[in-house]
Amino acid sequence: MKFNTKTIHGGQQHDPAYGAVMPPIYQTSTYAQTTPGGHKGFEYSRTHNPTRKALEDSFASIENGKYGLAFGSGLAAIDAVIKLLKPGDEVISTNDLYGGTYRLFTKIFEGFGIKFHFIGMENADKVADYITDNTKLIWVETPTNPMMNIVDIKAIATVSKEHNLLLAVDNTFATPYLQRPLDLGADIVMHSATKYLGGHSDVVMGALVVKDETLAEQLYFIQNASGAVCGPQDSFLVLRGIKTLHIRMQRHCENGEAIAKYLKNHPKIEKVYWPGFEDHPNHHVAVEQMDSFGGMISFVTKGSDYDKAIQIIENLKIFTLAESLGGVESLAGHPASMTHASIPKEEREKTGVVDSLIRLSVGIEDIDDLIADLEQAIG
Ligand SMILES: Cc1ncc(COP(=O)(O)O)c(C=O)c1O
Repeated sequence: MKFNTKTIHGGQQHDPAYGAVMPPIYQTSTYAQTTPGGHKGFEYSRTHNPTRKALEDSFASIENGKYGLAFGSGLAAIDAVIKLLKPGDEVISTNDLYGGTYRLFTKIFEGFGIKFHFIGMENADKVADYITDNTKLIWVETPTNPMMNIVDIKAIATVSKEHNLLLAVDNTFATPYLQRPLDLGADIVMHSATKYLGGHSDVVMGALVVKDETLAEQLYFIQNASGAVCGPQDSFLVLRGIKTLHIRMQRHCENGEAIAKYLKNHPKIEKVYWPGFEDHPNHHVAVEQMDSFGGMISFVTKGSDYDKAIQIIENLKIFTLAESLGGVESLAGHPASMTHASIPKEEREKTGVVDSLIRLSVGIEDIDDLIADLEQAIG
């Protein structure tokens, strides 16, 4: 099955009860048993729920994995991955990553004795320098949030396999429409399904997909034992979102490219971060591992002027100033004070998240309206 068919049919079957074509929302916490343990595969909805199962099978299908797991948020999914580790274990992570992931690693898991090394992974060879006997996991975000750095998943997978480590990739920005980390050698793919997979900014959810059965069993155990699952209504919404992922992504990419080029030529814009530009440091890797470049763009104004950046985002009329990304509607954000405020200023500025940086999640509206909106806002 090709990707554009998998988004609609992957892992799906018509409901066995009445043949419903769309998966029913099984709004139930429990399931009748004829005798203790005598049930139809479902006993309690923290453990399993038919609507969530349909979604989990869809996750597995679109990411070319075997096992999918849905969680109450992207951070809950990341939390489950780190719970595979023990005190004393070490993780090597990209240094430019979603602020909430950084906060989870440093403010929660460092307290439980797990050590994190945050490094730039644009050069994959650097990773080996940080591997010790205690290293268990490499955590990669690519493209990174918000600097749009590109990490070579295949090259990092080679290092992780050599040292018998797990490699997890946060594929939220790219989605499997553009990039399939399991095919490139990763062990775990993670999503904030809140973003492009859901696609309509109406649900918060996380996803994991793996191929390996033992790893899947460990993660299912954590999912059930820790309990950060999502409900059936949200599962239904994300499953519905995935059915249009391919056509939404196609338009996100077209609009993203047009806006990246418009901004690059704008006299008041200093720098535009978008992996589709030939002068992007890892453009060649992006070309290799992604099918196109997506709808996420960051930029700074000339003179790195904080007030000007704030003025632009306040002037926007079609782009909404809001947290999050990946919905059909265009959003603009100020990473330093919003999504990445939980990262200390010195750390954040080292990776380029300066006070004048603006991040755009380009939606699927008419491109002429989006460009006109930027034009009037930048002035
Ligand atoms: C790249 C990335 N990973 C993870 C997350 C966390 O996901 P959630 O907000 O669904 O918990 C986000 C949220 O913005 C994100 O952008």
